[in-house]
Amino acid sequence: MSLPDSVKYSLKEHSPIIEEIIISTLSASKQEKLQSAMLYLLKSGGKRLRATLPYLVGDLLGSPKHSHYELGAAIEIIHNFTLIHDDIMDNDSVRRGQPSVHVAFDVPTAINAGDAMLATAFELISSSKHIAIEKLPGLVKIIGEMVRRVSEGQQLDIDNENRRNISIDDYLYMIEGKTAVMFEACAKIGGILSNASEEEIELLGKWGLNLGLCFQIVDDLIDVISDSNTSGKPLGSDLIQGKMTCITIHAINSKDYDLKNLDLVLGKGGEVSRDLIDLAISDLNKSGSIDYCRDLANKYHKISKECLTSFNKNDAYAVLSELTDYHINRIK
Ligand code: IPE
Ligand code: IPE
Ligand code: MG
Ligand code: MG
Ligand code: MG
Repeated sequence: MSLPDSVKYSLKEHSPIIEEIIISTLSASKQEKLQSAMLYLLKSGGKRLRATLPYLVGDLLGSPKHSHYELGAAIEIIHNFTLIHDDIMDNDSVRRGQPSVHVAFDVPTAINAGDAMLATAFELISSSKHIAIEKLPGLVKIIGEMVRRVSEGQQLDIDNENRRNISIDDYLYMIEGKTAVMFEACAKIGGILSNASEEEIELLGKWGLNLGLCFQIVDDLIDVISDSNTSGKPLGSDLIQGKMTCITIHAINSKDYDLKNLDLVLGKGGEVSRDLIDLAISDLNKSGSIDYCRDLANKYHKISKECLTSFNKNDAYAVLSELTDYHINRIK
């Protein structure tokens, strides 16, 4: 399922400025191989959701500025850096339907390109001529904390692999770090740059955080319910990797069901046949684990939707509202 037309139109409208900022920022490195590794993933696609969110929030509040684009571009670069490192950590060789950076180049180059991208994001923010100087320390703090929380979430994600005593609360804490805090930061930063009140910034952050939780639960569901054309990755790659997602955690705790096919796939890596993956997915349907996660995604969708209601119902509101619904509609 593709993005709603209003969201697509909005992303397209802002994309020329955002792309220009991203490309010129990443071109700071004149080291040829490093620069092409840094640009490779951005050139292979991506929705640019995080890039556009701060501006849309600014627009919602009635004062979108160029600095919203710059902060959005910086967060998008950081997001892409985390994807490069994530594909190494998850041993995923395909991203956005193309070979991952560590496959197209090599692992050392991919690690190095990710590091350089994180650094250029901070170069972009600190050299901006559009951010009021007194706002800079607060913005850098939010982004620094965001990156740290992503690393903490990623570490838990790795450490949880093949552990069997993970609770749904452990999982929620993990995805809050690895995914949701980035949306929270985009939303809060959008508010800060538009001089929003403390209450508004808090509400925007809550919207972003819950949107991010819903987003990751849906991403985890898509791994087992969609073909690779939708996810850009092979079906069941989280299962083979032994990822503890809300789906696998629920299944492991469903003692009344015989989940032998799931056992044959979970954490087995490499050469698991497509037929066996399909059987493991039928086990997940039998145990009600897929339905359980749909309900969980719906819960966070509802919370995030409610956060938006107190804002002005302008055009940006309509786009943000449809964007909030998009994730949940992907699994209907
Ligand atoms: C992928 O995010 C990483 C997750 C947190 C699940 P997106 O699905 O937004 O990735 P792109 O940028 O559009 O490729
Ligand atoms: C990605 O989580 C989170 C970060 C990159 C920080 P996943 O590992 O679930 O994302 P995909 O499925 O590979 O996009
Ligand atoms: Mg991954
Ligand atoms: Mg991962
Ligand atoms: Mg995933």
